[in-house]
Amino acid sequence: MELDKDIQTMQRGFHCSLCVVNIPNKPSLEDHVKGKKHQHLLRLRAQRKAQEENGVFVSGFKPDTSQTDLKEYFTQFGPVSDVIMDKDKGVYAIVEFSEPQNAQAALAQLQHQLNGLKLRVKPRERKEFKLASKGKRDSKNTQISLDKLNLEICKATSVNEQMQKVVESFELKDNEKKVRDLLVQLLQEVFTEFFPDCQIVPFGSSVNTFGIHSCDLDLFLDLENTKVFQARAKSSEVETGENQSEDCRSEDSILSDIDLSTASTAEVLELVAVILRKCVPGVHKVQTLSTARLPVVKFSHRELNLHGDITINNRLAVRNTRFLQLCSGIDSRLRPLVYTIRLWAKQKQLAGNLSGPGPLLNNYALTLLVIFYLQNRDPPVLPSVNQLKNMACEEEECIIEEWDCTFPSQPYSVPPSKNTEDLCNLLSGFFTFYSKFDFSASVVSLRDGHVLPITDFLQIDDEAASDSKPRRSSAPKLGPMNVLDPFELNHNVAGNLNERTQKNFKRECCEAEKYCRSLQYQRKSTKGKSWGLVRLFALPCESGPRSQVGTEKVMEVSIPFKAAILPEPLRAQLALAGNGFRGLWFAKVCSAVHMVFQDILKCSPLEETQAAAVCQNLDKTDRDENEMEVNNNRSVEDSGLQAKSETGKKRPLTVEEGPSTSTDVQAKRQRLEADLEHPEPVHWTWTQRKCVWAGRRKVRRDLLKTGDVISKPEGGCVDIESRVTQSIVEKEEKLQDLLEFKVDAEVVGGDESTKVVLHFHPSQDTAGVFQDFFHFLESFLPKMAETILGRVGS
Ligand code: UTP
Repeated sequence: MELDKDIQTMQRGFHCSLCVVNIPNKPSLEDHVKGKKHQHLLRLRAQRKAQEENGVFVSGFKPDTSQTDLKEYFTQFGPVSDVIMDKDKGVYAIVEFSEPQNAQAALAQLQHQLNGLKLRVKPRERKEFKLASKGKRDSKNTQISLDKLNLEICKATSVNEQMQKVVESFELKDNEKKVRDLLVQLLQEVFTEFFPDCQIVPFGSSVNTFGIHSCDLDLFLDLENTKVFQARAKSSEVETGENQSEDCRSEDSILSDIDLSTASTAEVLELVAVILRKCVPGVHKVQTLSTARLPVVKFSHRELNLHGDITINNRLAVRNTRFLQLCSGIDSRLRPLVYTIRLWAKQKQLAGNLSGPGPLLNNYALTLLVIFYLQNRDPPVLPSVNQLKNMACEEEECIIEEWDCTFPSQPYSVPPSKNTEDLCNLLSGFFTFYSKFDFSASVVSLRDGHVLPITDFLQIDDEAASDSKPRRSSAPKLGPMNVLDPFELNHNVAGNLNERTQKNFKRECCEAEKYCRSLQYQRKSTKGKSWGLVRLFALPCESGPRSQVGTEKVMEVSIPFKAAILPEPLRAQLALAGNGFRGLWFAKVCSAVHMVFQDILKCSPLEETQAAAVCQNLDKTDRDENEMEVNNNRSVEDSGLQAKSETGKKRPLTVEEGPSTSTDVQAKRQRLEADLEHPEPVHWTWTQRKCVWAGRRKVRRDLLKTGDVISKPEGGCVDIESRVTQSIVEKEEKLQDLLEFKVDAEVVGGDESTKVVLHFHPSQDTAGVFQDFFHFLESFLPKMAETILGRVGS
């Protein structure tokens, strides 16, 4: 079956980008493509495409112009099938013709006039056809038609003004805030009936100054006082022997069914759900999610058209909402920046609560990224959280769940920033900042106001676990993007992201950064063309693998630094290497790559540079020394790292070099860090005689049938993969021409995500055989290297 452009081959199976589903194998793919859903979406897409091609976007007419007026006018270019007008303001319309050539004729005419006014006639915006996900319940409200917003912001005279207009278009208006307040009041009344002295406290976007029309209403049900009430009621019950509290409020209370001091979160939330369902008018779609990181009850309100969440253990969220409010109050540039960046991120499917392609950044995490960037401007726009803490007075001290959440309650306690940059500049600076950001090897800390090295988080802090430091024993979940919560210091708010979404974020920042350097960003077009933010939101995105159309194919494989998957002993070594961790990790990766080529794929080494040999030796020495360390109880510093300190001299290393004395450890460590910080690239030349990449799946299947190996995914087991190769080598004919190829490896990072990049150069490949091999290596090599690294020292 020929694959159409909607179907991509994946490492395992296929992906249909039209229906946004993964398909495990070819037979299922055939069924899928013939199936109802795929066929329906194909038809719908064709229909949309025709509508886009047949239609023109018209503006500039008088507000009282009717659909009939427009239809009559445009009929001169061909039959008009429909006129869709913007009902609210009557400022634009879409005129649809029966044929695309009619639309072309209308567009070709230079001037259009109706009732004495010059009309603007433009092609319709081409939107990529996407399956509306089930989560897009609010798309109608929030997805203010970009056409409409664009029209508004095109009229602005500067990017600064455009950004202010974005805020005006999206921010919660007073009447919307009132509606939310009313619902909070209603819930407060109802819940007080059942949970005396409880408090319903809104947090999140409804109140953090970044809310938009359709945002959720996040609520914290504070039951602390209710617990006290219940305890008191119980003790008076014991004293009087009656089932009645001192103020007679609990006789029919739901509290008689539950003991809040011992009940689980899930039990309390179940009660909350029952109350919502049965006692709050207008509430429907109540759903309890008790397995979420923060268990929650979700609900909707029919008449108010609102969606809400109720949590019960969320005091920190109320406090961080206060923090966001404070930041908005400290510098008025924060709001327009956050609104603009949230809209950009939503357009690019990078952030938000809607279900998109893979896990997205949540809005809270994105807002923290903006604040962190502003802390890092020169001069800073916002202070670090530690600095804020020092500006607070005694009464403002606040500790929640052992985390220090102290900051001033009012913005006037914070001296104004010396930074005078305008919004236009700050926005482009945001993209520059994150396009050069090493996400995989840095930890964003708003607390400190600067990046912390990942090595600080690689080792479990035994000392802290035992002493008085708060909950440090559980380190944050490290991932492709690490953004520490400013208060809950072991929570990575971007911990849900995967490699792909982090890469997308970075790629979009790079695209935006490039655009922001152009005149179209900075200056209003005198010819009425779109400019500034309009283009920023619409920038085409190069999705998927790097586009290589018209260029020589770059044969490159990247192995990203993934702290989360490294085994504990390796993490400990990297932590000790400090700034030199990249060099040490590079040596480990090179050693793993060497093993893949030589031991697993049975390639023969033709030559390797001194640096490659050094990596091999370092890795070997490290491993031996690790074992010795266990025996001798010596530190890693004295062993692996001491060996590495000799690498600068480019001589093979041996274990016999002996341990350092404690006095020179520090000096060696410094030398070592310097050496490891800038490791030399590594080069190998390999040859291959057999098609070891062809038919591996079948060989693996046959091998598994023998029953003496446990099934592992491709690249998941050194032994299986070596045996697969061995089996191919034994059966396969030799290749006609010996395959010879060079591999250059280098480690990059610091101003981009830390990774090892392997460049491949075949000596010659007229028959395209190496191309096939490379295609296989693209997915096999990173997986296999990860598997090998996962075993290091363990
Ligand atoms: P959201 O990410 O939903 O942000 O988190 P938001 O600003 O309310 O944006 P909408 O709702 O998508 O428009 C809601 C609140 O939950 C807390 C924060 O208080 C945040 O404002 N939160 C979220 C955390 O405390 N930690 C997290 O990791 C995520």
